[in-house]
Amino acid sequence: MKIIKAKDYDDASKKVANIISAQVIMKPDAVLGLATGSSPIGAYEYLIKWFKRGDVDFSEVTTINLDEYRGLPKTHDQSYWYFMHKNFFDHVNVPDKNINVPDGSNPDAEVACRKYDEIIENAGGLDLQLLGLGLDGHIGFNEPADTFVLGTHCVDLTESTIEANQRFFASKDEVPRQAYTMGIKHIMQAKKVVMIVTGANKAEIVKEAFFGPVTPQIPASILQIHPDFILIGDEEALSLV
Ligand code: GLP
Repeated sequence: MKIIKAKDYDDASKKVANIISAQVIMKPDAVLGLATGSSPIGAYEYLIKWFKRGDVDFSEVTTINLDEYRGLPKTHDQSYWYFMHKNFFDHVNVPDKNINVPDGSNPDAEVACRKYDEIIENAGGLDLQLLGLGLDGHIGFNEPADTFVLGTHCVDLTESTIEANQRFFASKDEVPRQAYTMGIKHIMQAKKVVMIVTGANKAEIVKEAFFGPVTPQIPASILQIHPDFILIGDEEALSLV
Protein backbone atom coordinates (compact mmCIF):
# COMPACT_ATOMS: atom_id res chain seq x y z
CA MET A 1 0.00 0.00 0.00
CA LYS A 2 1.32 3.38 -0.96
CA ILE A 3 -0.09 6.53 0.62
CA ILE A 4 0.18 9.82 -1.23
CA LYS A 5 -0.59 12.92 0.78
CA ALA A 6 -2.26 15.72 -1.16
CA LYS A 7 -2.76 19.26 0.04
CA ASP A 8 -6.48 19.41 -0.61
CA TYR A 9 -9.25 18.04 -2.80
CA ASP A 10 -7.99 19.77 -5.93
CA ASP A 11 -4.45 18.49 -5.45
CA ALA A 12 -5.74 14.94 -4.75
CA SER A 13 -7.94 15.08 -7.86
CA LYS A 14 -5.04 16.19 -10.02
CA LYS A 15 -2.84 13.38 -8.72
CA VAL A 16 -5.54 10.78 -9.42
CA ALA A 17 -6.13 12.19 -12.90
CA ASN A 18 -2.40 12.08 -13.58
CA ILE A 19 -2.26 8.38 -12.71
CA ILE A 20 -5.29 7.58 -14.91
CA SER A 21 -3.90 9.66 -17.73
CA ALA A 22 -0.50 7.95 -17.48
CA GLN A 23 -2.25 4.58 -17.60
CA VAL A 24 -4.08 5.52 -20.81
CA ILE A 25 -0.96 6.98 -22.40
CA MET A 26 1.03 3.83 -21.62
CA LYS A 27 -1.80 1.50 -22.68
CA PRO A 28 -4.27 3.27 -25.01
CA ASP A 29 -6.70 0.32 -24.90
CA ALA A 30 -6.66 0.17 -21.11
CA VAL A 31 -9.64 -1.18 -19.18
CA LEU A 32 -10.55 1.40 -16.56
CA GLY A 33 -12.75 0.57 -13.59
CA LEU A 34 -14.54 3.81 -12.77
CA ALA A 35 -16.35 5.06 -9.70
CA THR A 36 -19.14 7.45 -8.81
CA GLY A 37 -19.71 9.49 -5.65
CA SER A 38 -18.50 13.02 -5.09
CA SER A 39 -14.84 12.03 -4.56
CA PRO A 40 -13.81 11.29 -8.18
CA ILE A 41 -15.59 14.27 -9.80
CA GLY A 42 -12.53 16.54 -9.60
CA ALA A 43 -10.34 13.89 -11.25
CA TYR A 44 -12.87 13.55 -14.07
CA GLU A 45 -12.78 17.33 -14.52
CA TYR A 46 -9.00 17.27 -14.95
CA LEU A 47 -9.21 14.38 -17.44
CA ILE A 48 -11.84 16.26 -19.46
CA LYS A 49 -9.62 19.35 -19.50
CA TRP A 50 -6.56 17.38 -20.64
CA PHE A 51 -8.63 15.52 -23.26
CA LYS A 52 -9.89 18.83 -24.67
CA ARG A 53 -6.39 20.18 -25.07
CA GLY A 54 -5.26 16.96 -26.73
CA ASP A 55 -3.09 15.53 -23.98
CA VAL A 56 -5.02 12.29 -23.48
CA ASP A 57 -7.16 10.20 -25.82
CA PHE A 58 -9.82 7.72 -24.71
CA SER A 59 -10.79 6.38 -28.13
CA GLU A 60 -9.54 2.85 -27.41
CA VAL A 61 -10.35 2.75 -23.70
CA THR A 62 -12.97 0.41 -22.19
CA THR A 63 -14.66 1.49 -18.98
CA ILE A 64 -16.36 -0.75 -16.46
CA ASN A 65 -18.17 1.05 -13.68
CA LEU A 66 -18.33 -0.33 -10.21
CA ASP A 67 -22.00 -0.22 -9.43
CA GLU A 68 -25.55 0.92 -10.08
CA TYR A 69 -28.72 1.32 -8.03
CA ARG A 70 -31.15 -1.52 -8.59
CA GLY A 71 -34.43 -0.28 -10.02
CA LEU A 72 -33.25 3.03 -11.47
CA PRO A 73 -33.48 3.41 -15.24
CA LYS A 74 -30.48 4.93 -17.04
CA THR A 75 -32.44 8.12 -17.57
CA HIS A 76 -33.00 8.74 -13.84
CA ASP A 77 -30.86 11.70 -12.85
CA GLN A 78 -29.50 9.78 -9.85
CA SER A 79 -28.58 6.63 -11.74
CA TYR A 80 -24.85 6.05 -11.93
CA TRP A 81 -25.16 5.66 -15.72
CA TYR A 82 -26.51 9.22 -15.80
CA PHE A 83 -23.86 10.46 -13.35
CA MET A 84 -21.03 9.03 -15.43
CA HIS A 85 -22.34 10.56 -18.65
CA LYS A 86 -22.92 13.96 -17.08
CA ASN A 87 -19.57 14.08 -15.28
CA PHE A 88 -17.32 12.32 -17.75
CA PHE A 89 -18.47 10.37 -20.83
CA ASP A 90 -20.39 13.26 -22.44
CA HIS A 91 -17.16 15.28 -22.53
CA VAL A 92 -14.56 12.76 -23.71
CA ASN A 93 -14.27 10.22 -26.52
CA VAL A 94 -14.78 6.82 -24.89
CA PRO A 95 -16.82 5.00 -27.58
CA ASP A 96 -20.36 4.21 -26.39
CA LYS A 97 -19.87 0.52 -27.10
CA ASN A 98 -16.92 0.48 -24.68
CA ILE A 99 -18.88 1.94 -21.74
CA ASN A 100 -20.21 -0.52 -19.18
CA VAL A 101 -22.38 0.14 -16.13
CA PRO A 102 -24.42 -2.60 -14.39
CA ASP A 103 -27.98 -2.68 -15.71
CA GLY A 104 -30.01 -1.35 -12.78
CA SER A 105 -33.20 -1.57 -14.81
CA ASN A 106 -32.95 -5.37 -15.04
CA PRO A 107 -35.08 -6.70 -12.16
CA ASP A 108 -33.45 -10.13 -12.49
CA ALA A 109 -30.45 -9.68 -10.21
CA GLU A 110 -28.91 -13.02 -11.05
CA VAL A 111 -28.97 -12.37 -14.80
CA ALA A 112 -27.79 -8.77 -14.48
CA CYS A 113 -24.89 -9.74 -12.23
CA ARG A 114 -23.71 -12.78 -14.22
CA LYS A 115 -23.81 -10.68 -17.38
CA TYR A 116 -21.63 -8.07 -15.73
CA ASP A 117 -19.08 -10.65 -14.60
CA GLU A 118 -18.90 -11.85 -18.20
CA ILE A 119 -18.28 -8.31 -19.41
CA ILE A 120 -15.41 -7.89 -16.92
CA GLU A 121 -13.90 -11.24 -17.82
CA ASN A 122 -14.27 -10.77 -21.58
CA ALA A 123 -12.46 -7.46 -21.23
CA GLY A 124 -9.58 -9.33 -19.60
CA GLY A 125 -10.08 -7.74 -16.18
CA LEU A 126 -9.22 -4.23 -15.09
CA ASP A 127 -5.94 -2.45 -15.66
CA LEU A 128 -6.79 0.26 -13.17
CA GLN A 129 -9.64 0.52 -10.70
CA LEU A 130 -10.57 3.90 -9.27
CA LEU A 131 -12.33 3.88 -5.90
CA GLY A 132 -13.92 6.17 -3.38
CA LEU A 133 -14.55 5.10 0.21
CA GLY A 134 -17.93 4.82 1.92
CA LEU A 135 -18.26 6.02 5.50
CA ASP A 136 -18.87 2.42 6.61
CA GLY A 137 -15.82 1.21 4.67
CA HIS A 138 -17.68 0.14 1.53
CA ILE A 139 -16.03 0.06 -1.89
CA GLY A 140 -18.31 0.15 -4.91
CA PHE A 141 -21.38 -0.99 -3.03
CA ASN A 142 -19.64 -3.86 -1.24
CA GLU A 143 -21.18 -3.22 2.15
CA PRO A 144 -19.93 -4.57 5.50
CA ALA A 145 -20.79 -8.28 5.65
CA ASP A 146 -19.73 -11.57 7.19
CA THR A 147 -17.78 -12.59 4.10
CA PHE A 148 -16.24 -10.91 1.08
CA VAL A 149 -18.50 -11.49 -1.91
CA LEU A 150 -16.40 -12.31 -4.94
CA GLY A 151 -18.49 -11.66 -8.06
CA THR A 152 -20.98 -8.99 -9.09
CA HIS A 153 -23.95 -9.20 -6.75
CA CYS A 154 -27.06 -7.50 -5.49
CA VAL A 155 -26.66 -5.80 -2.11
CA ASP A 156 -28.96 -4.32 0.48
CA LEU A 157 -27.58 -0.87 1.19
CA THR A 158 -26.80 -0.13 4.83
CA GLU A 159 -28.54 2.61 6.77
CA SER A 160 -25.26 4.58 6.80
CA THR A 161 -25.04 4.45 2.99
CA ILE A 162 -28.69 5.37 2.49
CA GLU A 163 -28.23 8.34 4.81
CA ALA A 164 -24.97 9.42 3.15
CA ASN A 165 -26.53 9.25 -0.31
CA GLN A 166 -29.87 10.86 0.52
CA ARG A 167 -28.32 14.27 -0.17
CA PHE A 168 -28.63 13.51 -3.87
CA PHE A 169 -32.34 12.59 -3.73
CA ALA A 170 -35.44 14.65 -2.93
CA SER A 171 -35.93 12.60 0.27
CA LYS A 172 -34.49 9.60 2.07
CA ASP A 173 -37.47 7.50 0.95
CA GLU A 174 -36.42 7.93 -2.66
CA VAL A 175 -32.96 6.41 -2.15
CA PRO A 176 -33.03 2.89 -3.65
CA ARG A 177 -32.52 0.19 -1.01
CA GLN A 178 -30.52 -2.13 -3.24
CA ALA A 179 -27.73 -1.96 -5.78
CA TYR A 180 -25.71 -4.16 -8.12
CA THR A 181 -22.00 -3.98 -7.44
CA MET A 182 -18.82 -5.44 -8.79
CA GLY A 183 -17.48 -7.92 -6.25
CA ILE A 184 -14.23 -8.04 -4.33
CA LYS A 185 -12.58 -10.55 -6.68
CA HIS A 186 -12.60 -8.26 -9.71
CA ILE A 187 -11.55 -5.23 -7.68
CA MET A 188 -8.66 -7.20 -6.16
CA GLN A 189 -7.66 -8.59 -9.55
CA ALA A 190 -7.28 -5.09 -10.99
CA LYS A 191 -3.61 -4.55 -11.79
CA LYS A 192 -3.63 -1.20 -10.04
CA VAL A 193 -6.12 0.24 -7.55
CA VAL A 194 -6.28 3.97 -6.82
CA MET A 195 -8.49 5.35 -4.07
CA ILE A 196 -9.26 9.00 -3.43
CA VAL A 197 -10.33 10.06 0.07
CA THR A 198 -10.81 13.63 1.18
CA GLY A 199 -12.39 15.49 4.06
CA ALA A 200 -12.37 15.12 7.83
CA ASN A 201 -15.43 12.85 7.86
CA LYS A 202 -13.34 10.08 6.20
CA ALA A 203 -10.44 10.23 8.69
CA GLU A 204 -11.79 7.63 11.11
CA ILE A 205 -12.73 5.07 8.44
CA VAL A 206 -9.37 5.55 6.68
CA LYS A 207 -7.63 4.64 9.93
CA GLU A 208 -9.85 1.61 10.54
CA ALA A 209 -9.71 0.33 6.96
CA PHE A 210 -5.99 0.65 6.34
CA PHE A 211 -4.43 0.47 9.79
CA GLY A 212 -6.67 -2.15 11.39
CA PRO A 213 -7.40 -5.81 10.71
CA VAL A 214 -8.47 -7.02 7.26
CA THR A 215 -12.14 -7.89 7.68
CA PRO A 216 -15.27 -8.11 5.53
CA GLN A 217 -16.91 -5.87 8.13
CA ILE A 218 -14.77 -3.10 6.58
CA PRO A 219 -14.63 -4.17 2.92
CA ALA A 220 -11.96 -1.63 1.93
CA SER A 221 -9.54 -3.25 4.40
CA ILE A 222 -8.86 -6.04 1.88
CA LEU A 223 -6.95 -3.48 -0.20
CA GLN A 224 -4.14 -3.67 2.37
CA ILE A 225 -3.07 -6.88 0.67
CA HIS A 226 -3.41 -5.66 -2.92
CA PRO A 227 0.05 -5.61 -4.58
CA ASP A 228 -0.41 -2.18 -6.17
CA PHE A 229 -2.82 -0.10 -4.09
CA ILE A 230 -2.37 3.67 -3.98
CA LEU A 231 -4.32 5.72 -1.44
CA ILE A 232 -4.46 9.39 -2.28
CA GLY A 233 -5.84 11.53 0.52
CA ASP A 234 -5.92 15.14 1.58
CA GLU A 235 -4.55 16.25 4.92
CA GLU A 236 -7.93 16.01 6.63
CA ALA A 237 -8.70 12.46 5.53
CA LEU A 238 -5.20 11.32 6.49
CA SER A 239 -5.11 13.24 9.76
CA LEU A 240 -5.39 10.15 12.00
CA VAL A 241 -2.80 7.98 10.23
C1 GLP B 1 -21.30 5.59 -3.03
C2 GLP B 1 -20.63 4.81 -4.16
C3 GLP B 1 -19.19 4.52 -3.86
C4 GLP B 1 -18.50 5.75 -3.33
C5 GLP B 1 -19.13 6.15 -2.02
C6 GLP B 1 -18.48 7.37 -1.38
O1 GLP B 1 -22.05 4.83 -2.15
N1 GLP B 1 -21.31 3.59 -4.46
O2 GLP B 1 -18.55 4.03 -5.03
O3 GLP B 1 -17.14 5.51 -3.15
O4 GLP B 1 -20.50 6.42 -2.23
O5 GLP B 1 -19.00 8.53 -1.94
P1 GLP B 1 -18.39 9.96 -1.78
O6 GLP B 1 -17.22 9.99 -2.67
O7 GLP B 1 -19.47 10.90 -2.25
O8 GLP B 1 -18.05 10.13 -0.36
